[in-house]
Amino acid sequence: MNRFGLGLGCALFLVVTGLGQGLELQPRSGDPLPGLTPAELDRFWIGRAVFDAPLSVAEGLGPIMNQTSCGSCHSAGGIGGAGSISVMRFGRAANGMSPFDPLDSLGGSLLQAQAISIACQESIPPVADVTTIRATTPTFGMGLVEAIPDATLLALANNPPMGVSGIAHMVPAFEDPPNAPLRVGRFGWKSQVPTTLTFSADAAQNELGLTNRFLTTDNAPNGNQALLLACDSVADPEDGPDAQGFHKIDRMTDFQRFLAPPPQFPRAGTMQGEPIFNQIGCASCHTPTFNTGPAPEAALAYKTIRPYSDFLLHDVGALGDGIVQGQGTEREMRTAPLWGLRLRLSFLHDGRANQGDFALDIASAIADHGGEASASRAAWNALSQADKDAVIRFLDSLGRTEFDQDGDFQLTDFDWFFIEPMFTGPTPSFTVESPQAVSDFDGDGDIDLIDFGWLQRAMSR
Ligand code: HEC
Ligand code: HEC
Repeated sequence: MNRFGLGLGCALFLVVTGLGQGLELQPRSGDPLPGLTPAELDRFWIGRAVFDAPLSVAEGLGPIMNQTSCGSCHSAGGIGGAGSISVMRFGRAANGMSPFDPLDSLGGSLLQAQAISIACQESIPPVADVTTIRATTPTFGMGLVEAIPDATLLALANNPPMGVSGIAHMVPAFEDPPNAPLRVGRFGWKSQVPTTLTFSADAAQNELGLTNRFLTTDNAPNGNQALLLACDSVADPEDGPDAQGFHKIDRMTDFQRFLAPPPQFPRAGTMQGEPIFNQIGCASCHTPTFNTGPAPEAALAYKTIRPYSDFLLHDVGALGDGIVQGQGTEREMRTAPLWGLRLRLSFLHDGRANQGDFALDIASAIADHGGEASASRAAWNALSQADKDAVIRFLDSLGRTEFDQDGDFQLTDFDWFFIEPMFTGPTPSFTVESPQAVSDFDGDGDIDLIDFGWLQRAMSR
């Protein structure tokens, strides 16, 4: 137990219980959604274990793959997050009359960089003249994003804010019957996937080599079927039902769908940088708010979320990754959702903005925005340094949990070490832009017993 809990705990709990004020603690990154039923919560925890468990060769790993578990790449800020491991895509650039070639027959466009034996190792074929790194995107809040109605995103594509023109990427969902209408893609750097289950089945096959009820055959190393036969000894599909009838891809899906969205603190609508972010056109693509529609679980249905993305494809000029995926062209990328931004280890699709300094990395990510985002970039460039700093402080609130004073995504004695000397009592003493504001739970410009009471609650959950 932490020192704070031992100290003032009981007395403060009395203070807090008298002061509801309609405020609630946010889930931390990696936590389950609030409001799940006990049965759904069980599915979250079982799913989390399956998502993070290394797959064995006997269970179907490989023969070619990128890692042994979903969690080995998705781990920053909690299991399911982004990560420092990335993947490679390759292809052959369009040339004259011939369009971009993903080199399917040679194992493209995704490289499987590892193999269960050296003999079946895949490599980038010499004919490939386009290669790109794809950084790992986080899966926080997936169920909520999935629950944004297609109609909402289509309306945004058909009636875009001034100066931008996003495209809804229409793609198939594996779980739909044949000939069902395509859905609006929203996951992945090119919005190439519409649902969590489809992404899980795809990643199971392509990242782990786990064939499943939707994707029933393993990838052949550089397309070489003889090599696949020689290297693969597990019968397909390798995934199948557990004792409760859930396949591994269903378990992984449960976990991701029930993951809470990333936290944001100080709260939306309070920081100086936010209206500036809107004015200079960032919000034209990085749409702050959506409402979810109907969903199978109450915890996902009719919620307001703040992903800071329109989930549409935009021509970002030279920032595009040169790969064609579905309708997503070389220069088109999905607006990267900015929620949880500070949990990310690098920015942009290839992770190029990664100096480890948040302000510098954000500035360099903005500097690389081209195409449709050029006007917004120019408006950013024209800001005073003070306004730029304010926007950065606002972006730094995306992914921040209240009371995480040392910024390590956890609440520990270290946070208490910083917070204790900041006690002001009930006298307004600082603004929402100040570092102390992270621990001003009720946002009234002081750190008093009310905030300490909430801190105690936050630490004892
Ligand atoms: C080798 C690292 C790696 C492994 C292993 C991996 N992923 Fe990913 N994941 C990525 C990368 C890279 C992306 C971005 C891919 C893209 O858009 O091209 C991604 C994106 C995703 C997304 C999309 C999130 C969004 O909104 O953009 C989901 C969902 C996902 N992965 C689920 C999984 C699941 C489930 C597994 C395990 C079966 C898994 N991943 C295994 C690297 C990995
Ligand atoms: C025309 C649409 C558009 C506008 C306007 C726009 N962005 Fe983006 N933004 C994108 C796209 C698309 C990406 C993904 C780029 C890539 O693939 O690397 C992105 C990526 C980012 C990233 C990197 C996030 C990550 O996870 O890697 C940041 C930060 C960002 N934008 C901030 C801003 C800010 C700040 C502004 C305003 C100055 C802005 N953007 C304006 C479309 C836009």
